[in-house]
Amino acid sequence: MYKIKLKGKTYEIDPKSDDHMMQQLVAKGAEIVGACGGAGICQTCAFKIIKGKFTPLTETEKMMDLPENQRLSCQCWPESDGEIDLIY
Ligand code: FES
Repeated sequence: MYKIKLKGKTYEIDPKSDDHMMQQLVAKGAEIVGACGGAGICQTCAFKIIKGKFTPLTETEKMMDLPENQRLSCQCWPESDGEIDLIY
């Protein structure tokens, strides 16, 4: 389990779960829009990395040309403890 800090709260995220970070955060009460339900289309689950390491960019994220230090929480898992901030 890794600890991910978001808006002053800390969430434990299982890096080995089949559920990506967005699903795990939402299940623990975080408010993430996630309009496309994790299909990697809407970008409303995007976050900025304040600190920490995350799984490599997926092909979906590469096609979106996200700004540096920005990821889609429906496409990744943490690889360390970290802190993030939601874009939407
Ligand atoms: S939930 Fe839509 S891109 Fe992640």
